[in-house]
Amino acid sequence: MLDPIETASPDEVRALQLTRLRWTLQHAYDNVPFYRRAFDAAGVHPGDCRTLDDLTRFPCTTKQDLRDNYPYGMFAVPRSRIARIHASSGTTGRPTVVGYTQRDLDTWAEVMARSIRAAGGRPGHRVHIAYGYGLFTGGLGAHYGAERLGCTVIPVSGGMTERQVRLIVDFEPDIIMVTPSYMLTILDEFARQGIDPRSTSLKVGMFGAEPWTEDMRREVEARTGIDAVDLYGLSEVIGPGVSQECAETKDGLHIWEDHFYPEIIDPVSGAPLNDGSLGELVFTSLTKEAMPIIRYRTRDLTRLLPGTARPMRRMERITGRSDDMMIVRGVNVFPTQIEELILRVPALAPHYQCVLSRPSRLDELTVRVESRSAAAADDPAHTLRELIKQNVGVSARVEVVPPDTLERSIGKARRIVDNRPRS
Ligand code: DLL
Repeated sequence: MLDPIETASPDEVRALQLTRLRWTLQHAYDNVPFYRRAFDAAGVHPGDCRTLDDLTRFPCTTKQDLRDNYPYGMFAVPRSRIARIHASSGTTGRPTVVGYTQRDLDTWAEVMARSIRAAGGRPGHRVHIAYGYGLFTGGLGAHYGAERLGCTVIPVSGGMTERQVRLIVDFEPDIIMVTPSYMLTILDEFARQGIDPRSTSLKVGMFGAEPWTEDMRREVEARTGIDAVDLYGLSEVIGPGVSQECAETKDGLHIWEDHFYPEIIDPVSGAPLNDGSLGELVFTSLTKEAMPIIRYRTRDLTRLLPGTARPMRRMERITGRSDDMMIVRGVNVFPTQIEELILRVPALAPHYQCVLSRPSRLDELTVRVESRSAAAADDPAHTLRELIKQNVGVSARVEVVPPDTLERSIGKARRIVDNRPRS
């Protein structure tokens, strides 16, 4: 059974959004000094929001704003009403702290349950959760959603790859939730143990927390026989469960727009862009109590598309984060573009890193990638170098390394290694 809003008309969704948006703006203005100052400085008041388009008159919020208000400055309810805290590790600087009231946790479980159902999950299914548990939102977010849907939760967390394989074989889960890069590591472990992953009980994989590609979907589906679908979210907005790809269409991720209002802006000028244009994804929460978030700049690049399997709009799979955009001799390159090309070379495994260096004045890109077996037949380095030149338009060095050489992550993979001197 779908939630009523999942079968509502787009007009009904928009009407609900406007009511909730007006409440959110007022709630933020009344209870978070940061928003009061920001709205006042921009000369806008919550009462100025009469249509959804009026939201563009309000200022955006950035990760730096959250850092500046570390740890609790963005909270809109008294400390005693905060039921849970999560934080994103962040590679540099202070972590970003987020808080939830009990009702926010309920909302989160609801959107995550909806996501699992859209992926093909049903009450009674067993769900193997290999997202990390802890301050990271992946494990606990997935956990409460699976419980809400009425599934049997297997809270494995990330790591201990041999044990992941044993538990999949022994506990017979229907669904696995894991980062796509760690899924590959688990699949390699299956091969090492001589077990065919196609022989397991798994039917669905819900992959997210990092960018991945259509080619990676094909690779994982071919090796496992499961449906591989995309799950997106970020802690500042709620965690996993902001949007989800439906198993029956696999055509991008439906945003649960009754709780999260999306916009696309030009990442440089900040100007709003129309649906269909590629740009930076921006979210405004519509129901969050503890930490309402107004026009949060995710730095994730995608485009908005009309609804298909659900009335809510879809977002295309994320191309990459603007922070992960490499500029090599003036050409913009994302790790996902390299991943796509690696997967076209049969002798190469999709374990890779993009290493940036600056031996002289210009930046150079070296792609370090593992071969699938010790003895590769042709010269895969040459093939990949040519593919990159033709498709991306840059000359990259390609270093093919033996299997199992590159660092494995048990969560989000680090795709870019920046060895350039700090300027
Ligand atoms: O990664 C939440 C999550 C957990 C999502 C498990 C899906 C599954 P953060 O640690 O705050 O939260 O990181 C959020 O991860 O802004 C994107 O850059 C990236 N990201 C998340 N999902 C996807 C995805 C979690 N499906 C940041 N595709 C986001 C591409 C993703 N990137």
